[in-house]
Amino acid sequence: MKKIKAVVYGVGTMNSIITRMLLDKGVEIIGAISRSSAKAGKDLGELTGLGRHLGVAVSNNPSEVLSLNADIAVIAVNSYMSDAQEQLRLCAEHGINAVTLSEEALYPWDTSPEITKELDAIAKRTGVTLTGTGHQDSYWLNMVSMLMGTTHRIDNVLGQASWNVDDYGPELAREQQVGTTIDQFNTWLESASRPPTFGRNVLDALVADTGLTPVSITTTSRPVLATEPLPVAALGITVPVGDVLGFTDIDEIKTSEGPSFVFEMTGCVYRHGQADMNHWKIVGEPDVELSNGAVPTATTTCTQIVNRIPDVINAQPGFVTVEKLPQLRYRAFSLETYLSS
Ligand SMILES: NC(=O)c1ccc[n+]([C@@H]2O[C@H](COP(=O)([O-])OP(=O)(O)OC[C@H]3O[C@@H](n4cnc5c(N)ncnc54)[C@H](OP(=O)(O)O)[C@@H]3O)[C@@H](O)[C@H]2O)c1
Repeated sequence: MKKIKAVVYGVGTMNSIITRMLLDKGVEIIGAISRSSAKAGKDLGELTGLGRHLGVAVSNNPSEVLSLNADIAVIAVNSYMSDAQEQLRLCAEHGINAVTLSEEALYPWDTSPEITKELDAIAKRTGVTLTGTGHQDSYWLNMVSMLMGTTHRIDNVLGQASWNVDDYGPELAREQQVGTTIDQFNTWLESASRPPTFGRNVLDALVADTGLTPVSITTTSRPVLATEPLPVAALGITVPVGDVLGFTDIDEIKTSEGPSFVFEMTGCVYRHGQADMNHWKIVGEPDVELSNGAVPTATTTCTQIVNRIPDVINAQPGFVTVEKLPQLRYRAFSLETYLSS
């Protein structure tokens, strides 16, 4: 069986880790795309810190790289469908499956319906699959979905998670408003252009998976402020006391059948001693809980996008969200082993 051929789309913090994992799992990387001219022409192995050349020159010409006949593009570029549509459309138009870390792509049907329907139509026409995955896939969606499946009746689903913004690159730090003043944060929060919260897409997916009917969706957000000057490696700045380190969103979906779903998610630059957490509680018959201790969120983001690759290639064409894919599995062997044809 031939190895899976992949294009690495975005050469930042996440795809640097993912590049090594792809190679470990027998994937042949045939191209890499970045934006800046500073990275163009450099070897992917050098840029991702592998310590060896891969013979793959990074390009800032996506169409050229996507014409190379890859089986899949592995995208780690941005978070929201308004931005991500560009990379997803290019992949679909070139007839290449794509799996992305863009958070909204986890379940974008309610927050960006027009864009998602259009991408779905292009992917169906060219016979490829587009999927959003990442840390949310199992920890915030499919594990919780499975936990719900162990109950007889659900009254409330309550999730709490946190992650350290400084485990990622500048893209996410800027999106989490790191380094802004409280006034700038409030202006952004109240602006009509504020993108959907990451938690909203998680709850949309969870509710859709139950078949329940959403009747109200609310979001409240509060900033996390620096109580001491805190250096932020992703941005090369130190956030002064009183400025923003990130924020907490609390999303809630109520359903007409009764159960409500609440997810409180904090993404901020951590002070010394803080650790990621993931805790879910289902109140009903019976009450059940899921807690993962100190979750290595950045690593589990990368492992899941890699382990999902065979599922995405095997899936039917279209925009296919992860709750419709098979259960996420450990991949003991080279990834092509798991292809159905
Ligand atoms: N779903 C999840 O669980 C999860 C977890 C972690 C991160 N994420 C998301 O994944 C994204 C990437 O994270 P990261 O930490 O790797 O970010 P990062 O270090 O800032 O890297 C982003 C990369 O994307 C490239 N890029 C930006 N716009 C581009 C374009 N139009 N075409 C091609 N390349 C482009 C940048 O290129 P240049 O350097 O050349 O400018 C950079 O290499 C973020 O939006 C983050 O929110 C999701």
